[in-house]
Amino acid sequence: MNQHILEIEKLKVSFKKKSEQHIAVNEVSLQVERGQTVALIGESGSGKSITSLSVLNLLPVNGFVESGSIRFDGKELLTYSDKEMRKIRGNEISMIFQDAIASLNPGMKVGIQITEGLRYHNLIPKPDLKSEALQLLEQVGFNNPAHVYHQYPEQLSGGMKQRILIAMAMSCKPKLIIADEPTTSLDVTIQRQVLDLIDQYKTDLSASVLLITHDFGVVAEYADWVYVMLGGHIVESADVYTIFKNPMHPYTKALIGSIPNPSSGQERLKSIQDYPLESVSNDGRRFAPDTYTKESSFFDTPSSLIEVEPLHYVRFYDEERKVTAIG
Ligand SMILES: Nc1ncnc2c1ncn2[C@@H]1O[C@H](COP(=O)(O)OP(=O)(O)OP(=O)(O)O)[C@@H](O)[C@H]1O
Ligand SMILES: [Mg+2]
Repeated sequence: MNQHILEIEKLKVSFKKKSEQHIAVNEVSLQVERGQTVALIGESGSGKSITSLSVLNLLPVNGFVESGSIRFDGKELLTYSDKEMRKIRGNEISMIFQDAIASLNPGMKVGIQITEGLRYHNLIPKPDLKSEALQLLEQVGFNNPAHVYHQYPEQLSGGMKQRILIAMAMSCKPKLIIADEPTTSLDVTIQRQVLDLIDQYKTDLSASVLLITHDFGVVAEYADWVYVMLGGHIVESADVYTIFKNPMHPYTKALIGSIPNPSSGQERLKSIQDYPLESVSNDGRRFAPDTYTKESSFFDTPSSLIEVEPLHYVRFYDEERKVTAIG
């Protein structure tokens, strides 16, 4: 059996805007090992959602995959028809979308909504759907499933709605869950509960998780492997321990520097917006990271990813820098 459940190779995704073409995801390669949580982290607009939407062939209408490969469980998804993709979505790969709370159907009881996938994929007999829904509700932490079953989304808090979405995502027992910033709008305690649920699911079913986030604190706690994304490129990747011990790309260092230190009394998590990133051009080609590290200056032409130590890859911007940074 292939060690990786998901293998994205040199994925390039563009958007057409009038006569212009804008590259949103640029030669991205990423792998998710079976049983692991892989984090994709990066600032707003770096291409995280577009990368993950490509996996399920759910790009916005003006977006298209130019080249690359996306293999799931050894199968090339880019050659799949719509019909074949529908069999995969929700069933073998579930996605918790970035703005998913808004997509809950306001007119449908949540107990019925969470078994939609099971109904669609015909996975269990109809008479068993309700008991399955109750079990799912219990699994995601509701201690009164029979009551919640009959509620509508507007009757639930944000955290509860997010748990409903996780129940939906788990319902068909997918091998891979893609969670796109599943906790952004939730308070810290609820965030942890939600991430714990996803983590528990992964452990119980030996499933895998692709976790999209902009929070390195979340990465530290939940991820086995990390990909850092900037301007459509992966700029660094390694196992979570290595990334924290030896971050090399200035952008990774900046992100790690933005994790609040509990002992410093700093209450608010600094976001990357708090750093002067105007030096990064839109396509990520130019990076003037003097702001962060004294050893770096101005780079222009990006190299491909370079393995700086075993299984630790960094994208440097010219030969000279490469040598400096490794040394
Ligand atoms: N519908 C669209 N039409 C045109 N360009 C788009 C569209 N959706 C996304 N893009 C572009 O694709 C790039 C990547 O966007 P993406 O949504 O993947 O970012 P992200 O990393 O998920 O950001 P965030 O953290 O804000 O969710 C951005 O430059 C964005 O402007
Ligand atoms: Mg996004």
